[in-house]
Amino acid sequence: MSVTIKTAAELAKMRVAGQLTRQVLDMITPHVAPGITTGELDQICHRYIVDDLGAIPAPLNYRGFPKSICTSVNHVVCHGIPGKRILKSGDIINIDITVIKDGYHGDASRMFAIGDVSIRAQRLINITRECLETAIRLVRPGTRLGDIGAAIQQHAEGNGFSVVREYCGHGIGRVFHEDPQVLHYGTFGSGLELSPGMTFTVEPMINAGKKETRLLPDDWTVVTRDHSLSAQWEHTIGVTEDGHEILTN
Ligand code: MF3
Ligand code: CO
Ligand code: CO
Repeated sequence: MSVTIKTAAELAKMRVAGQLTRQVLDMITPHVAPGITTGELDQICHRYIVDDLGAIPAPLNYRGFPKSICTSVNHVVCHGIPGKRILKSGDIINIDITVIKDGYHGDASRMFAIGDVSIRAQRLINITRECLETAIRLVRPGTRLGDIGAAIQQHAEGNGFSVVREYCGHGIGRVFHEDPQVLHYGTFGSGLELSPGMTFTVEPMINAGKKETRLLPDDWTVVTRDHSLSAQWEHTIGVTEDGHEILTN
């Protein structure tokens, strides 16, 4: 596979898909509270995506994934499967939404703090968000993917946290996960140079403890090996002539 360059018409469709993705996250926000199950969050999002937005929830049946959204609680790094888990005060959760509209994907995720969370958990959420925002500010023609990875790694590790290595951001368009791979660690000045029309996600997964992960026997749920908390934020970005556009904003 190679990196696809989107035309203005394709970018317009990516923008629509990105806006719908953001709308799902906005819609679900008031529901993310103590007492609800992750399975109920999935059901609400599924109905909204299909019935209200006329869109397709991309995760459903993607490589056998059984639900329409990913819900990753506390030490779950990513790809948590919605189910019977009841959210309680002190939990942190990532909700990751990907919709397909008119053949194009939008992909974004946010962290939510349930009730009162520890100062360390809130700090992890905030630093991870800053990692994403710092990376996005660098996106323009001429920037290299290594610059993005290095900036994220520097901010995470400079604050005493670690960067998950096994999962990364990705090119996105007609295909959910396409080239390039967008690593969240790296070396400034290295890697692919960005050009206008590229669209990709940045989605750093940052652990409060060590960087190592483990895949649970369900073959989807990724957890931190040391059971430390993990956080993630994600946007879909388009490279423009003079900078970038956050398609999921
Ligand atoms: N939305 C995730 C990402 O950011 C991928 C989820 S794949 C699934 O790339 F199958 F787990 F849904
Ligand atoms: Co993604
Ligand atoms: Co995602």
